Amino acid sequence: MILITGATGTVGSEVVKRLSAQGIRVRAVTRNPRKAAANRLAHIEFVAGDFDDSHSLRRACSGVDRAFLLSDSTDHAERQQIAFANVARKCGVKHIVKLSQLHASVEAAIQAFGLSYTFLRPNLYMQGLLNFRQSITQQSAFFAAAGEARISAVDVRDLAAVAVAALTTSLHDNKTYSLTGPEALTFTRMARQLSKAIGRPITFTDVPPATMRAALIDLGMPAWQADGLLEEFEMYRRGEAAGVEPGVQEALGRAPRSFAEFARDYAPQFA
Ligand SMILES: NC(=O)c1ccc[n+]([C@@H]2O[C@H](COP(=O)([O-])OP(=O)(O)OC[C@H]3O[C@@H](n4cnc5c(N)ncnc54)[C@H](OP(=O)(O)O)[C@@H]3O)[C@@H](O)[C@H]2O)c1
Repeated sequence: MILITGATGTVGSEVVKRLSAQGIRVRAVTRNPRKAAANRLAHIEFVAGDFDDSHSLRRACSGVDRAFLLSDSTDHAERQQIAFANVARKCGVKHIVKLSQLHASVEAAIQAFGLSYTFLRPNLYMQGLLNFRQSITQQSAFFAAAGEARISAVDVRDLAAVAVAALTTSLHDNKTYSLTGPEALTFTRMARQLSKAIGRPITFTDVPPATMRAALIDLGMPAWQADGLLEEFEMYRRGEAAGVEPGVQEALGRAPRSFAEFARDYAPQFA
């Protein structure tokens, strides 16, 4: 049995969809299984589970061989993920596919527990642009505190494909993949490619961090999440997300999707 945490989120839902399409039986963890079950998928059983409730994790992990570990990036994430790995080990889980570029301590704990692992360290998700959907659809513009930072953003569909490969074969056991797109682009270049894909000009404007924070909160994002995102953007401005890494090619034997492909495929959502 394969267990998926974060199953209702951006990455996890893509992982679950792919496993369902392959006819693989999956237990998918959520705090709200009734809501998740509305999204019916063949072979997928949504079960109640909360990283802060070890009883629920024990129930979820029973009979599981391989698990996908993803949580929100809150201050609690490291503690929650280490607690999950500990419960998983005790329940007989053999392999954890963990997603995050942070959390060296979680990676170390998984190894120290004697579990086999695949560590996925993704760059910014291209799908993060969907956070700006409202201003793109209504004002043909988006704003962020990014300056002219170049970012090798990665398509979540590629992350999910690597996760599925690591969950369903042993070929990726004990490997760490840095996952990026094929090129590092500024937001100005991304806006140009998005304009081409949706057939009308979309502009990107650099704004101070405080302006970006206010706008995110206005869009309904919780303060902790907006602050986390701003920290990440500070990192982008320092040029720390510009490297192009071979992880997708190494894991899947094919090149990662380009931003132009993302823009083409998601154009209807920005129209
Ligand atoms: N955004 C980026 O560009 C980016 C780039 C690199 C890495 N990352 C990493 O990606 C991760 C976020 O992935 P995502 O965007 O797919 O997440 P997301 O869409 O925000 O979804 C979060 C998931 O975590 C689950 N969750 C939250 N708290 C939980 C709890 N207490 N117990 C059980 N489940 C809980 C939620 O499930 P329910 O609400 O259904 O319970 C949901 O499925 C973070 O670790 C972040 O560091 C993000």
